[in-house]
Amino acid sequence: MDKTQFKQRQLNLINLMEQGIALIPSAGFVTKSHDTEFPFRQHSDFRYLTGFGEPECMLVLLKDNDASMKSILFLRDSNPFMEMWMGKRAGLSKAMELLDIDDALPISSLEEKLPELLKGRERIYFDLTNDDLSQTVSKAFKQVLKLRKQKVTKPSSFNYLSPLIGRLKLIKDTNEILALKKGMEKTNLAHKYAMAMTNAKSSEAKVNNMINFVFNSDEAEGAAYDNIVAGGENALTLHYIENDKAFNDGDIVLIDAGAQYNGMATDISRSYPVNGKFTQAQETVYEIVLEAQKAALREAKPGSTLAKMHNEACKVLINGLIEHGILKGSLDEELAGGDFKKYYPHGTGHWLGLDVHDNCPYLDDKNEDILFSAGMVLTCEPALYFAKNDELVPKSWQGIGIRIEDDILITKESYENLSSMIPKEIKEVEETCKTSLESFSLSFQ
Ligand code: GLY
Ligand code: MN
Ligand code: MN
Repeated sequence: MDKTQFKQRQLNLINLMEQGIALIPSAGFVTKSHDTEFPFRQHSDFRYLTGFGEPECMLVLLKDNDASMKSILFLRDSNPFMEMWMGKRAGLSKAMELLDIDDALPISSLEEKLPELLKGRERIYFDLTNDDLSQTVSKAFKQVLKLRKQKVTKPSSFNYLSPLIGRLKLIKDTNEILALKKGMEKTNLAHKYAMAMTNAKSSEAKVNNMINFVFNSDEAEGAAYDNIVAGGENALTLHYIENDKAFNDGDIVLIDAGAQYNGMATDISRSYPVNGKFTQAQETVYEIVLEAQKAALREAKPGSTLAKMHNEACKVLINGLIEHGILKGSLDEELAGGDFKKYYPHGTGHWLGLDVHDNCPYLDDKNEDILFSAGMVLTCEPALYFAKNDELVPKSWQGIGIRIEDDILITKESYENLSSMIPKEIKEVEETCKTSLESFSLSFQ
């Protein structure tokens, strides 16, 4: 863990703040059933600022009038009994070693210490949440407001914190890009293996199990989000995560799955035939989507925007729908009218990072689209979806859902496609579907 990097991120946040206090909680445990919890996942903002992986913490950053910073971490104290049941904790003194912070205090003292920390602060930076923590902060806030006789500055505004952290997260550093590339190695292997193992006798569940196996191998941290392994019409449910049906010969499989590595999410979709060979209709739809992605990627360069990328993708998709008699108007009419949204109901991309939908701003302070610049990472994922009973589309197109999604790093001149090694052209996809499983260095032993 490179503590100087996290300290620098804290200082970057302080630079965006006015005089005041920032309160950044870690994630807590989430109940799965009765007295058992889901595997712990650290909150991305807390992870971004500390790299610390424990629950029940609060990072407090204080910005003084001279712009200097003081950092305090509230965390769980050592507790041999609890550690025997639930695993090791860093404890206060180890936390001081691990992190470049000014103080470490037990989380059990937060409620008592908070009013003192709020005194003299002009602003509180905190994301209101739905849990006890918001109660604790609001109680401390009210306590300070009641101090009528002490000559002390009292916080006069509450500011939302995640937009500030989101601004910092927009530009990825070399470690984050390296993590994306390491994660992509697993994502690449899983998608290729999926193409090779899929046939009418395999199933969504079998392919999903293999993907999870690959995503949990070596140092990878599992799936960045719930895998989507959708045979046939299941692809029309955008967030289909049941992954429990048989495959049918003649259908397309849509897989949207990405490994996580060092906290960073990859997010890749590929669509390919169960039997390894596209039908004419499937090929036609696939080529429209692929062409839409290529058009969108021509806008992946500094100074452009996600909105421009989306517009380019929509133009190609609409032209394809007009050409095949599905939409009846002109390109401009259809773009303005929006009937195509029935077949393409989502955007063309989103920021990618510690969260699969990275919580970075899409608009700047003037409400203008954020302009791409080197170091930003986003997805490019045009698609077409045709319902089974839609009489407006040819019978052979009904029930087809195709999405092609790559992860894109904006560079100084244009972009780098981080997932360029994952087959995408029809010929490459069909070739990969034919590959023997023995050719993969993947051991399930
Ligand atoms: N996997 C979710 C998405 O593509 O946005
Ligand atoms: Mn995706
Ligand atoms: Mn995506």
